[in-house]
Amino acid sequence: MRETLIAGNWKLNGSNQSITELVGAIISGAKTVNCKVAVCAPYIYVPLVSKLVDDSLSLGAQDVSEHDSGAYTGEISAAMLADFKCSYGLVGHSERRSYHQETDEQVANKFNALKQAGITPVLCVGETLEERDAGITQSVVNRQILAVIDKYGIESLSGAVVAYEPVWAIGTGRTASPEQAQSVHADIRTLLAKDDNEIAEKTQILYGGSMNPQNAASLLAMPDIDGGLIGGASLKAGDFLAICQAA
Ligand code: 13P
Repeated sequence: MRETLIAGNWKLNGSNQSITELVGAIISGAKTVNCKVAVCAPYIYVPLVSKLVDDSLSLGAQDVSEHDSGAYTGEISAAMLADFKCSYGLVGHSERRSYHQETDEQVANKFNALKQAGITPVLCVGETLEERDAGITQSVVNRQILAVIDKYGIESLSGAVVAYEPVWAIGTGRTASPEQAQSVHADIRTLLAKDDNEIAEKTQILYGGSMNPQNAASLLAMPDIDGGLIGGASLKAGDFLAICQAA
């Protein structure tokens, strides 16, 4: 049985005060839920959240450098994140791919950097609306995943997390239907199973894109949806915890 993971991605939001309050409220509610709970903080608040979290809440980062060290101004390495007890790191979020022109290869390198530092990578994949309309959803998602497998091997997926986030559903209030999401998740698992059945069965595949307290239960009820990556609704403790309770 795969454990359910509900992870919040705060994106570019928060302050010392709001994040301290939010984490306090999430921790008090997270003790009574039946799933693993994590929050991905903006880099600069990673040390703050690192001090606040306990066994009921894990810390993640929203990105990582593909480099270990050196002359890369503004970058944060996986080892630095490990220094602050980060358990998870997002790579390949569509906002990084589109606003920062991150390539599949860079995303694969970031994925590997996290693995090397002992941090669980959360590999974000997903198609744009044009790609869905053109009927190439699965080939886009497969390409994004194969970029990691081809360079670092199927073993690199062992213990990693995949997040399917259709770009057209992110921050739009338009969610993939449970059936639409399930279909892509099942195809992702089939792709992994071609190389390693056990890794395919164990890999948590999260859904992300306008997940909220109203639609969470029906999405999480699908057999291949193992959790959620939550944007907007993770900024309100009540909404975020309601999603955790639906899991
Ligand atoms: P929303 O939940 O705001 O649609 O964001 C999803 C997302 O991008 C999580 O990484």
